[in-house]
Amino acid sequence: MKVTVVGAGAVGASCAEYIAIKNFASEVVLLDIKEGFAEGKAMDLMQTASLNGFDTKITGITNDYTATANSDICVITSGIPRKPGMTREELIGINAGIVKAVSSSLVEHSPNTILIVVSNPMDTMTYLAAKATGLPKHRIIGMGGALDSARFKYRLAEALGAPISDVDGMVLGGHSDTGMIPLTRLATRNSVPVSDFLTKERLEQVKEDTKVGGATLTKLLGTSAWYAPGAAVSGLVQAIACDQKKLFPCSVFLEGEYGMNDICIGVPVILGRNGIEKIVDMNLTDAEKENMLNSAEAVRKTNGLLEL
Ligand code: 2OP
Repeated sequence: MKVTVVGAGAVGASCAEYIAIKNFASEVVLLDIKEGFAEGKAMDLMQTASLNGFDTKITGITNDYTATANSDICVITSGIPRKPGMTREELIGINAGIVKAVSSSLVEHSPNTILIVVSNPMDTMTYLAAKATGLPKHRIIGMGGALDSARFKYRLAEALGAPISDVDGMVLGGHSDTGMIPLTRLATRNSVPVSDFLTKERLEQVKEDTKVGGATLTKLLGTSAWYAPGAAVSGLVQAIACDQKKLFPCSVFLEGEYGMNDICIGVPVILGRNGIEKIVDMNLTDAEKENMLNSAEAVRKTNGLLEL
């Protein structure tokens, strides 16, 4: 199993680290445009191998896509991260050109690859990668929902005073401060609805804290987060590489599912060796359906800024 991660910044390096540490891939190629940067990160990570007990071989390369040839999975983290006060949508001007070029170069060298898009604004960048590469929809996956759901579980556990392993929950919709839809109705503490423990007001707070999860960290760190994004990517990559048939919310190209067309947005999917094995059609309430449509409207507005 060969995995390429483009972008050796904090997010890309965390992806490589978490993928390697889980020890399911034979090779991870880390690529960056900055001379020597990916090579340095790869060497540093490889020097953790004996300490952390993994055999995955991580190599770094400066902008040479031939080194990525025949990757089974490619992860795109390239582009600029947001600064405090910025929305993800404001990054489109710079990141669209980068994601278009990177996704095309990757697919040129790995025509059978599965692409995972992390760059922001993620739903729009996933849509752009789909259009730029023409890959079938089951091989283009936007990483947002897995991260947002992890942040939702963190906030739920905090409110409940419970260990995270007790908590289950999922976030659908766009990966944006206003577009996320944490499904509080279906969240549970070991099968008991969280609404049995938390007031409506507290649950509302959990929902709001989840939606601004990325912005809260950007304010604290001065740039966007990397540990949880890297861990979320490694979860998706492992589900595909190990054919786990695991369910994650991911941004995927919709053709009629959830009543939507020609858009990438977060919905539940099953991930396995073929990428998206199935888009799960779950029952939503009227209010949740309306939230999905509003979230989609915002994503479409950002998609409208693309030059396709
Ligand atoms: C985040 O929410 C990077 O968009 C990512 O932290």
